[in-house]
Amino acid sequence: MPPGVRRTAFATLVTSLLALTATAVAYAGNGGFLPGDPHSPGAQRIQDAFLFVAVFTGVIFVVVEGALILFIVKYRRGKRERTAEGPQVHGATRLEVIWSVIPVLILAAIGAFVFYELPGIQDAPKANAANETRVTVEGHQFYWLFRYPDGAISIDRLVAPADQVVHEDITAPTYDVIHSWWVPDLGGKLDAIPGRINKTWFKAPVGDYIARCYELCGVQHAAMYATVHVVPRAQYDAFVAKRGSEAGKLDLGREEWTGVCEKCHRLGSKYIGPDLQGNTLLANRQGLESLLRSGRGVMPAVGKNWTEAQIDALVAYTKQFAGKGGS
Ligand code: CUA
Repeated sequence: MPPGVRRTAFATLVTSLLALTATAVAYAGNGGFLPGDPHSPGAQRIQDAFLFVAVFTGVIFVVVEGALILFIVKYRRGKRERTAEGPQVHGATRLEVIWSVIPVLILAAIGAFVFYELPGIQDAPKANAANETRVTVEGHQFYWLFRYPDGAISIDRLVAPADQVVHEDITAPTYDVIHSWWVPDLGGKLDAIPGRINKTWFKAPVGDYIARCYELCGVQHAAMYATVHVVPRAQYDAFVAKRGSEAGKLDLGREEWTGVCEKCHRLGSKYIGPDLQGNTLLANRQGLESLLRSGRGVMPAVGKNWTEAQIDALVAYTKQFAGKGGS
């Protein structure tokens, strides 16, 4: 085999292997290539669009980079003079038409596909009122607060009924900053903008799904994750009933402690904020309330819009840490 042919064969082999590797990753479903594992109709459509676009970009990548490598090898200077010039070519109408028309067709195909998928991502399927669930998702520095019917509240863990449409009203308090709610397995990102409501929905089987804040919102942005805990309807109803009553007080208090306080404070050591071990404020309802509602120094007013019941719940839980050297 002459050296030229051998080299071309080698370049082709390398390019093909690279292409095959990329295909394997794409085909594996979620080898880090896709944003999530779709478990809701909207997420499925987003993934379909993602894959549709990825096919074109993948082919273009392989063709362009393959040609680049091939040309670098095949047309290298070798023994030719450094000043040697190639043939001077002007215009190639057929080629130019081809490389103009193909991208137009690709863009038209991508645009058409995305517009076809969009309504199914945006609009929730019709459901009868009994099966409708609505929750408010509120982004705070640095926690997610979820509001259910009858004043029930949870922090960093959204409980939702399985296999039914769940409407999410995504927002943030007017005094807070912009966050972004993203549950990759259930749909796309949506900004939580102070004083505004963005709407989305999901319909998912029983399971736990990871949610993240996707908008840089301050020092603990990276700690702003949550779980969407999808359970059978009866379990969801029981959860909301308990959270709306006195019986759910300690559970809420614990979530407030881990989801709100512990984002910046630790017991027994300094973290982003001061050590809270044995801090008498933890058992002082009035003092704690004023701190939560107004903030202090670099600490944001994390509990500015909390209900009295929410403050009660936190004190009921944190008073155990207030004693000297308590645990
Ligand atoms: Cu909230 Cu980033």
